[in-house]
Amino acid sequence: MAERTTLHEEAARGLEDARRRTERLTDLDVAELTAQHSPLMSPLVWDLAHIGQQEDLWLLRGGNALAQGRLSAEVEKLYDAFEHPRASRVALPLLGPDEARGYLADVRGRALEGLDGTATTDGRELFAFSMVAQHEQQHVETMTATHQLRRGEPLLGGGTPLPPGRPVAPDDAVLVPAGEFMLGVDGTDEPWSLDNERPAHRVQVPAFRIGRVPVTNADWQRFVDAGGYDEPRWWSARGWEHRLAADLERPLFWSADGSRRRFGIVEEVPADEPVQHVCFFEAEAYAAWAGARLPTEVEWEKACVWDPALDDGRGARRRWPWGGAEPSGALANLGGEALRPAPVGAYPAGASPYGVEQMIGDVWEWTSSDFHPWPGFSPMLYADYSAPFFGGDYKVLRGGSWAVGAPSLRPSFRNWDHPVRRQVFCGLRLAWDA
Ligand SMILES: [Fe+2]
Repeated sequence: MAERTTLHEEAARGLEDARRRTERLTDLDVAELTAQHSPLMSPLVWDLAHIGQQEDLWLLRGGNALAQGRLSAEVEKLYDAFEHPRASRVALPLLGPDEARGYLADVRGRALEGLDGTATTDGRELFAFSMVAQHEQQHVETMTATHQLRRGEPLLGGGTPLPPGRPVAPDDAVLVPAGEFMLGVDGTDEPWSLDNERPAHRVQVPAFRIGRVPVTNADWQRFVDAGGYDEPRWWSARGWEHRLAADLERPLFWSADGSRRRFGIVEEVPADEPVQHVCFFEAEAYAAWAGARLPTEVEWEKACVWDPALDDGRGARRRWPWGGAEPSGALANLGGEALRPAPVGAYPAGASPYGVEQMIGDVWEWTSSDFHPWPGFSPMLYADYSAPFFGGDYKVLRGGSWAVGAPSLRPSFRNWDHPVRRQVFCGLRLAWDA
């Protein structure tokens, strides 16, 4: 047994938190688990065993895919995400729910023994444990999106209560003056940060203004009412082509009668909640209509964590927008229990040094940035996590959604997706040149 450190506790908590959420989302009958609820998604039972397969690979075999795992090589191949596209997974001879659960429990027991036996001082030796927990949390969010796409009676309930919002004008923005800032993080400050968040490096950012809160459903309704979906001038050429081809008229899950479907419940669209389920092209068109633009991911990160007063006025990063405290229900909406974003103005205590609110949690925010490595990038243990996607047809999203687990999020965390995707819990915040 190695000496147990705070980092051991954190890694173990990360694994437990992810598993508790996996179990909650897959505590369903066989028919629900094996059905394909959307061509965009895997059957839940695929996600379930794939979570175990990745844990088996990284924590029991040190990433050596040729070493014998707990499954036969033939079965294990079914869970290779690069090999089988999501829409095809339902046709594979997958493990049944009970077999998958047994596999997960077996692998987890061995992984925890491995964690206990690993000595570390700075967390480097424990990185794989956190990486695997973060992988599971990412699948938890994907499975939550599968639940949202699923048709039928509600299975998850309406979600837990959230703090009340307060009125914030749609054009309420803060100024971030021009200047240098430290973009990205290093393993010494953020031991669990993934490869694409590193290394920390100085960048010059021209002055800009950024919305105090995300764009709301009421704001979006005004765009719909103003004919925003019918006016090519607000859309990029590619965006307009997609708007026509996909027949976009309003956010995904909204109906023409002003209601929306959320986890099987049909309800009135709440006016003061951040809009979600809009694609990048819609976000870009909305911003143009509003006389604004989307922030770059660099602007977004500076507005989130840069504190110009720190380090004798030279400026430094905060760990979170609000400071060093771990995320809590008073600061941000994370962890998936609410099943929806919080109304705007709900977290004044979670504001960044510049006064920007709700950057962490609630909705992933589309940025105008393509997905590229930071200078000095070096791939992590899971070398294909980021690198194959750099330079592809992706836009970066920032800040996490209500469905993200706190242990797998940092202000430096970079998510990426195709600009047409809407099933993600994604919205936007406006920015302006200053
Ligand atoms: Fe995966």
